Amino acid sequence: MSTVSLLSEIADVGRDQRRGGYSRHVFDAAEGELRAWFVEQAQRRGLDVETDRNGNLWGWWGTPGPKALVTGSHLDSVPGGGAFDGPLGVASALAAVETLRAQGFQPAKPLAVVVFAEEEGGRFGMPCLGSRLLTGSFDADRARALRDPDGVTLAQAAARAGLDPRRLGRDDVALSRIGTFLELHVEQGRGLIDLGSPVAVGSTVIAHGRWRFSFRGQGNHAGATLMTDRHDPMLPAASLVAAARRIASGVAGARATVGRIVPRPGGTNVIASAVDVWLDARVPGDEHTRALVEEITAAARHAAAEEGCEVTVTEESYSGAMAFDPGLTATMSGVLGAPPRLATGAGHDAAILAEHVPAGMLYVRNPAGISHAPEEFAEDGDVEQGTEALANVLKALSK
Ligand code: GLV
Ligand code: MN
Ligand code: MN
Repeated sequence: MSTVSLLSEIADVGRDQRRGGYSRHVFDAAEGELRAWFVEQAQRRGLDVETDRNGNLWGWWGTPGPKALVTGSHLDSVPGGGAFDGPLGVASALAAVETLRAQGFQPAKPLAVVVFAEEEGGRFGMPCLGSRLLTGSFDADRARALRDPDGVTLAQAAARAGLDPRRLGRDDVALSRIGTFLELHVEQGRGLIDLGSPVAVGSTVIAHGRWRFSFRGQGNHAGATLMTDRHDPMLPAASLVAAARRIASGVAGARATVGRIVPRPGGTNVIASAVDVWLDARVPGDEHTRALVEEITAAARHAAAEEGCEVTVTEESYSGAMAFDPGLTATMSGVLGAPPRLATGAGHDAAILAEHVPAGMLYVRNPAGISHAPEEFAEDGDVEQGTEALANVLKALSK
């Protein structure tokens, strides 16, 4: 079955009628349905499926590890996301396994297809949660205490999904089984449109992180409170949004986004008592990212003081700038006839794993140049070219 056909099987799972696109969040009903779909598809291709301690799914061709060739991606989405971010890497991995089997290819080392849990951080706020827990780069106690917007902890959600929350955390067995990791992903910007190529090999990922600004003021009546008597936390929140745009626009290669604001209590005729604002900031280079966030933070603190409000700033996640394994990247380029190399502003599980094992990425052109939105797209022909590229790289690496 082709990658396009596999994706069409899940096209109705987790559609978000309110936001448009898909909302598939770790351990919710839609993501659970996708997990069940993956298990069935992996088993149909002769893979032995297991779930690791952190809720990542593994489909094994051959005895698990050590030093296996692993490929895959994630099935969760951002709120109202597109159809390709994550599922394309999973579906193409399944299709590539099927192609290799049909060719009678027998890998010389174990090969696995993986589905990482909560790559987007769409439910618990921590991106690449499954791979961070597996590699030990995120503390298990902090993870267990993470809460979704309804107040459900990760420990509770994991337990409801059949995991033992006490066993979340660094998984040396799972990690030792990975020799090399490859992730195929839809390109998330204009990179491949501009390069005129259906496929690229990943080169670098820029530094990126998430910061929560919690502004506190005085909740009050929208009609009875004179403008001079207000301590409205929405004011510094709005200043933060504007400062992020203004300051990042002056820094080469910087991106700064506020995509989520939660006022409390959140009433039209109520001056908020508190507002949480999440800043996503990314710049090529760690020191530049730190400097950008410091400057935005200073602006937010200044705006809070002017309004008689308080602000606390919490770094919720940070991923340093990284380059994919040069040897692996060169091998991939050689196998694929030197396609373009692409630096990305998006985060991926491959970048988390790259700190521990050789990891690389393949990107498939996105003619919309849009991602994390319903308009995200990839042409069928490009999807199949990407799948063929993945199969060829897997073949070359598992000889
Ligand atoms: C994940 O897609 C991210 O870069 O936020
Ligand atoms: Mn994404
Ligand atoms: Mn992704």
